[in-house]
Amino acid sequence: MTATLNRPEVGTGRVVWFTGLSGAGKSTLASALYTELTARGERAELLDGDAVRENLSKGLGFTKADRDTNVRRIAFVAGLLAKHGVTVLVSAISPYAETRREVLAALPNATEVFVDAPLEVVTERDVKGLYLRALAGEIAHFTGVSDPYEAPESPDLHLRTDLISVEQGVARLLAHLEGGNV
Ligand code: PPS
Repeated sequence: MTATLNRPEVGTGRVVWFTGLSGAGKSTLASALYTELTARGERAELLDGDAVRENLSKGLGFTKADRDTNVRRIAFVAGLLAKHGVTVLVSAISPYAETRREVLAALPNATEVFVDAPLEVVTERDVKGLYLRALAGEIAHFTGVSDPYEAPESPDLHLRTDLISVEQGVARLLAHLEGGNV
């Protein structure tokens, strides 16, 4: 079996927090990283925006208050899992810089990954058809269109998904984790 990645504190997991616009590639990168980590024998878990909103945050909308509540709930669960040695991969737009700062500061071994693609690119991708609807005014508070996204100023990792492949992104993530940075 391949050796597990470096761990700063035995028994303490880490939290890799993917933030970025809808369609930037947060979930794709998180799930590709999950595959790699679990293949290495790491205990990992995905906390994905869509799944969280179906369950833990069901009923919440996209006002600032609701997004912040969503992000704090995710962070709470991530912290519990990390306490038990699980590597937690969070993908959530988490658009507000101050809220991200607050939750990341309270988590053990957290790393902030800015999954970045220009608005024109994510609009063009429009994987879920939401940008078209948001631009037509059919979805209120849509991040990047009618709601803010506060990009991290100094993320631990900045991945431009319009410029690199998923494989290259995962390689950057693994190198970061292997370097004992988280
Ligand atoms: S947040 O801001 O962190 O609470 O958002 P998150 O929980 O990640 O949920 C984002 C997904 O919800 C869908 N969706 C919207 N996104 C942004 N703005 C509005 N108004 C909105 N309405 C629905 C969208 O599919 C997001 O999924 P991703 O995976 O990011 O594309």
